[in-house]
Amino acid sequence: MTTFKNVLYDVKDGLATVTVNRPDKLNALNAETVDELRLVFETIRDASDVRAAVLTGTGEKAFIAGADIGELAKQTPIVGVETSRKGQAVLSLIESMGKPVIAAINGYALGGGCEIALACTLRVASETAKIGLPEVSLGIIPGYGGTQRLGRLVGLGRALEMILTGDMIDAKEAHRIGLVNRVFPADSLRGGADELARKIMTRAPIAVALAKQSAISGWDLPIADGLALEAALFGLCPTTEDMKEGMGAFLEKRKPTFRGK
Ligand code: COA
Repeated sequence: MTTFKNVLYDVKDGLATVTVNRPDKLNALNAETVDELRLVFETIRDASDVRAAVLTGTGEKAFIAGADIGELAKQTPIVGVETSRKGQAVLSLIESMGKPVIAAINGYALGGGCEIALACTLRVASETAKIGLPEVSLGIIPGYGGTQRLGRLVGLGRALEMILTGDMIDAKEAHRIGLVNRVFPADSLRGGADELARKIMTRAPIAVALAKQSAISGWDLPIADGLALEAALFGLCPTTEDMKEGMGAFLEKRKPTFRGK
């Protein structure tokens, strides 16, 4: 296990676990933690032996209770822009890397905690999770992509209600509106997140990366451009050994062994 000051990083059989570890501050993201998350996710992106990651928070109370309000309270306008850009860059890294990142939301996911979960590929939550964007209660707006990604995921009307009221929703409601993919009892959350990640890890890694790229990059494109992107990426698949293996295994009625080549 690699230990940073505020983040735990562990890899087991190709699955990385990233745990934000500031329990006395409900895992709030100070600048140092954001820097550490950047380093960790760059490592995951570049590590050939890591195929997927789970992001969670220490303890049972909080996933991430937002940006660190103690730091935010002291920011100047210039620092505010810089803070937002640095956070957005880490979230874009998570969103765009060619590996699935699953947020295991084990409690409060507020502000930046909700936003980082939105940048993850999939989200699973414990029954006790509470999710919200309370920024307007503090006199600020979401600054890590919340005003952009939430509406794209759950629709603008639902997103605006959350953003403008600042109210939290529970796991059941988050599941109902498509903000989280699955809900588990608290003691099954990690197992459920790992199982979902490991299922994806059995699929062809290059195909997983290309499918993620097509879906995420295509999100913001006019449909004709998104379809052109999909066709171009589809056309890359026959260059992989994994396509031959996947189709060969189907025809020979056996399980494929993908090598990510
Ligand atoms: N930034 C800095 N510290 C935070 C924090 C944050 N975002 N969220 C929680 N903490 C700290 C509290 O200040 C407290 O520290 P202390 O013991 O030194 O006083 C500790 O974490 C525990 O939080 P506390 O508020 O006592 O827990 P609670 O169970 O009463 O309430 C919350 C839990 C999540 C409802 C409440 O902590 C909260 O509203 N946090 C802020 C959430 C927020 O607005 N996030 C968006 C920021 S942009």
